[in-house]
Amino acid sequence: MNNETDFSELNSDQRSDWLTDVLIIGSGAAGLRAALAASESADVTLITKTTLKESNTLYAQGGIAVAMNVDDTVALHVEDTCSAGCGLCDVSAVETMVSEGIPRVTELLEWGANFDWEGALPRFTQEAAHSRKRIVHKGDATGRETTDVLIQRVLNTERIRVISDAFAVDLLTDETSVDDKNACYGVSAIVDGKIIHIYAKATILATGGLGRLYPCTSNPEVATGDGFATALRAGCEMIDMEFVQFHPTTLFLDGAPNFLISEAVRGEGGKLVNIRGEQFMDKYHEKGELAPRDVVSRAIQNEMLLTGFPCVYLDITHKSSDFIHDRFPTITATTKHYGLDISIDLIPVRPGAHFMMGGIRTNSDTETNILGLFACGEVACTGVHGANRLASNSLLECLVFGVRAGNNAAAFAATQTSQSPPITHQSNSKTTDSEATNITLDKDTLLAIKDAICDTLWENVAIERDCEGLEITLADLEAIGDEIGICPSSPTTVQTTCVELCETVNMLHVAWIITKAALVRTESRGAHYRADFPEKDDTVWQRRIIITKDHEPEIVELTCSTNP
Ligand code: SIN
Repeated sequence: MNNETDFSELNSDQRSDWLTDVLIIGSGAAGLRAALAASESADVTLITKTTLKESNTLYAQGGIAVAMNVDDTVALHVEDTCSAGCGLCDVSAVETMVSEGIPRVTELLEWGANFDWEGALPRFTQEAAHSRKRIVHKGDATGRETTDVLIQRVLNTERIRVISDAFAVDLLTDETSVDDKNACYGVSAIVDGKIIHIYAKATILATGGLGRLYPCTSNPEVATGDGFATALRAGCEMIDMEFVQFHPTTLFLDGAPNFLISEAVRGEGGKLVNIRGEQFMDKYHEKGELAPRDVVSRAIQNEMLLTGFPCVYLDITHKSSDFIHDRFPTITATTKHYGLDISIDLIPVRPGAHFMMGGIRTNSDTETNILGLFACGEVACTGVHGANRLASNSLLECLVFGVRAGNNAAAFAATQTSQSPPITHQSNSKTTDSEATNITLDKDTLLAIKDAICDTLWENVAIERDCEGLEITLADLEAIGDEIGICPSSPTTVQTTCVELCETVNMLHVAWIITKAALVRTESRGAHYRADFPEKDDTVWQRRIIITKDHEPEIVELTCSTNP
């Protein structure tokens, strides 16, 4: 890999300070696409937590939703997206995503993405809540194909420098005189067991999701929500944090890891049955198996409760073995590895945490409330998903807002004369190194703490929530925080070079703001279902909740893409 940097080969001077025009944190589709865009006019450094390949994108199965089919229009795709978002989408951001999605997907195809074709057009498939067949895909490995194409280009781009195994700890920020805003000058990161500072004229957070805050999830191990916590500590506004999407079907098999069973299986006619062999979705929604994800997830949870059995089953056996193998090669291979032949056997499934609709508040130009800091992909919240994301809109979001972030960050960098702050930098304006908390814990203890955070979220802040449960979780998080000397509601930096400790503290802070936002929203909407407030309440709640560190949640009016 020609432009990857091995830090162990650099001398200590080279390691301690790294300067770049645009720094990108994260290597999913959003980060990679941002890097390619920014590198057209700037020098780019892209850091990633483990390998360049590992991200939520790699595991995306379904595909990319795009209004390119002969019977489709941008207006229809916008309408479907907004209707899935249950009245909380930023319509102008949705229009941007859907219309710019067409050139973004076209260029991906031109770059060699080997998606499935039918004659002269990509083979469009159907997924829940789409009024048209509009999902382009590569079997059930669309994320892998997208990742491969983007990584190839990144590695062939001289102006992009990649640093793998670099864990972003904190954004480097300082106060400025510009509009009372803080400014961002890069990041402190753990690389090769040491803290290094990477100074940048512009920084893009593209760190992906947080599924690993829950024990059942479709997300890989890296998805511990670090970018959300880093942004919170730096003073970013976090918005819509109560909206965590649970995918109805993750594999539930003894000994098997967390693994997604794509919605496309239901799109191809797969049926859900309970342990008694009864098909049940028609009882819950007129669209049956293709009802919105939150409806299907709650229905499955209810069937599990009614039957006292820990999963339900997905049945695709009506399709031929050849079709299944061709359309779902990844699912076929993975389930086969655990002894299932899905052309004959039912697939045991249950819901798992899948996607975070909320995140760092940005406008459609991916600007945050911190000068020089941009955010894109799952960690950001432009408002395109509202209260519930439409299937296969996430890769689309990454491509569209990745390019926007890259272009805007490069343009911002061009206006800056130096990467470093005017005075001496601080790792966060309010948290200097001397104020940082010093904690040492062994790996087993950290693992137990992570499990405790996941368990309380799963119990009370998952598919169904209520006031009592949410308050129990806040108390649980306080108790966990007490054990390790961290206040969950008051984000602080921990002085350490232990990545697992940073992850644990990040999980605690992010768990806190999800729970807090879920407690404030006393209605049910999209992915947020309150058993004690089961109805949608537009008069009070067609509004959004913003959380910033050290402040009570703020309820704001729904507006179109404004400057943060
Ligand atoms: C899936 O393949 O079911 C996931 C697609 C998505 O979340 O958009």
